Amino acid sequence: MKIISDIQEMQLFVRQAKEKGMSIGLVPTMGSLHEGHLTLMRQAKKSCDVVVASIFVNPTQFGPTEDFAKYPRDLSGDSEQAAKAGVDAIFHPQPEEMYPAGYSSFIEINGITQKLCGLSRPGHFRGVATVVTKLFNIVQPDKAFFGQKDAQQVLVLKRMVTDLNMNVTLEVVPIVREKDGLAMSSRNAFLSSEERKAALVLSQSLQLAQKLVDQGQVNAQNIKEQVMLKIQQEKLAQIDYVEVYSYPQLENLDVIGDKALLALAVRIGNTRLIDNTILEG
Ligand code: PAJ
Repeated sequence: MKIISDIQEMQLFVRQAKEKGMSIGLVPTMGSLHEGHLTLMRQAKKSCDVVVASIFVNPTQFGPTEDFAKYPRDLSGDSEQAAKAGVDAIFHPQPEEMYPAGYSSFIEINGITQKLCGLSRPGHFRGVATVVTKLFNIVQPDKAFFGQKDAQQVLVLKRMVTDLNMNVTLEVVPIVREKDGLAMSSRNAFLSSEERKAALVLSQSLQLAQKLVDQGQVNAQNIKEQVMLKIQQEKLAQIDYVEVYSYPQLENLDVIGDKALLALAVRIGNTRLIDNTILEG
């Protein structure tokens, strides 16, 4: 497996693979790899000849008070795991390689970015869309793989690919969870053992919501309130948002009829975690 930090070298690698008629799969990540990321990589290997995984903690998607500096980084551990998952090349540019002095171009998607994480993290999706566009331009993948863990990110990127006529297919992989239900996340590494237990309230509150819907409770506001109540019972948890929207339109919803996205962001101590589920009435 190659580890490439130079953009031109990455482009050459891809060009040579394409000349041989090989298809390219891209898995964008910020590293500190876990089973969620590795599932995307294995999935990519199943349907593409060559898999490129990017490992880049993207500064433009972090707000000034967020955890960019302390975001976990472990290139050597990541490389070992990525190689086992079938990755052919890791693209690991330095921030100055991606955003050299004078850099001034950004991609902005309106509408669906004005809710959920877009509200609590202003500028976040502008940074995500910009870096993903750059990665698409550099790697020119046939397919790119993203996780449903970041449900809004998937919808934003799908909107972008459609609106800007990007020649890539987005593949979405279901949320990978720990045995006890906690959604895998690089940020789970920040949790103390007490916080790790408290963090279960995210997945448990999603399960509660699905149970209520299964029992015939389809009032969206009511579901939202019960989920909030459940989270508030955990003393280490502080709600950032709990929202129920129609899916995939992300519009306000009174009754859970067809598909609804229940999405939450909760702070456990200093660590902000997100999780979501699709409710079906
Ligand atoms: P990161 O948080 O590293 O996640 C990389 C990819 O892995 C994303 O598509 C994310 O949805 C997926 N992923 C993370 N945890 C997962 C889980 N438990 N189950 C399934 N998939 C999971 O998302 C980003 O990085 C960045 O915003 C990025 C797209 C790389 C742009 O910088």
